[in-house]
Amino acid sequence: MSKKTYKIALIGGDGTGPEVAAEGVKVVQAAAAKFGFQLEFTPYDFGAERYLRTGETLPDSAVEEMKKYHAIFLGAIGHPDVKPGILELGILLKMRFALDQYINHRPVRLFPGVETPLKGKGPEDIDFVVVRENSGGIYTGLGGATRVGTSEEIATQLMVYDRRTVDRCLRYAFELKRRRNAASAKYAAKPITLVHKRNVLTHCGDLWFRAFEEMGAAEFPELKRDYNHVDAANMWFVKNPEWFDVVVTENLFGDIITDLGAMIQGGLGVAAGGNINPTGISMFEPMGGSAPKYTGLNVINPIAAIGAAGMMLDTLGERAAAAAVETAILTTTPKMKSQAAGKMGFTTTQVGDLVASAL
Ligand code: IPM
Ligand code: MN
Repeated sequence: MSKKTYKIALIGGDGTGPEVAAEGVKVVQAAAAKFGFQLEFTPYDFGAERYLRTGETLPDSAVEEMKKYHAIFLGAIGHPDVKPGILELGILLKMRFALDQYINHRPVRLFPGVETPLKGKGPEDIDFVVVRENSGGIYTGLGGATRVGTSEEIATQLMVYDRRTVDRCLRYAFELKRRRNAASAKYAAKPITLVHKRNVLTHCGDLWFRAFEEMGAAEFPELKRDYNHVDAANMWFVKNPEWFDVVVTENLFGDIITDLGAMIQGGLGVAAGGNINPTGISMFEPMGGSAPKYTGLNVINPIAAIGAAGMMLDTLGERAAAAAVETAILTTTPKMKSQAAGKMGFTTTQVGDLVASAL
């Protein structure tokens, strides 16, 4: 019998991106061997070096090519010699928009042995998921500027949402909540929380709130619903993270609160994200950047990249293998001295080996 094979585009990227990506690949290859499927990685060199050499970020033909794959795995993008915005827009955002990866799925989970800056909170308190809308809002880039450079300069950047874009994001979040509730009574006791700013953003906030209430009541009546203004959500993430399970929000708010989420779960070294198109090609990445100063030193933390690779297995439908990767991470983090680069008590490759052998 031939094994199921998944084709994955591998974009190592810049700085320490390729180092952490390699450990993610190592771990999911070990999982594939154990669970009886195959992963075929094809490397691509998109990133700063290619841009500096050729002026090209992500050509349209490459986006087309990505459609041949089951998923994309990304290390990190960013370089001190490239002006901010070029690679972010030209590669990351272009990929998200072109492949309609309309969900940004970001678990906020404190693994055992990992230090959180929140006093008195442990792994049982910090275990939720932020579902960030990933295709609309201010990120659509609508707006403009005039009289630039004069004292009368005007700039606008519009928050744009339509009902379909809101609904498809909410549906993903409600379905995720239903799955989590079925998996654990601890999750089932908590609500799904919509985060917005409807006291001020009366148009977009109202659209999100009504859509949330209507879909919840009509299609997911058994799920408890809650709502937080985004400023208050920031406060509760710090004070009472144990209140949260699935948090759903629009694009920019999601960008901001997930950096806070990353910090309370122990930092960017452990925070993973998936840019998901539930019926298309998704892209998985550690949330951290390319950390240029650590390049080639074998000291950067690969846990986030390994977590992202595990999420990729989940989205591919290899649920058992994904759960095993998560368990292997849970047994590895307590052995590490710290999650900070250079202070782990292990090298990057050793951490990858530990997780792979824990499988
Ligand atoms: C993220 C990043 C990106 C974003 C940037 C690099 C464009 O901050 O993935 O959260 O704003 O979405
Ligand atoms: Mn961000």
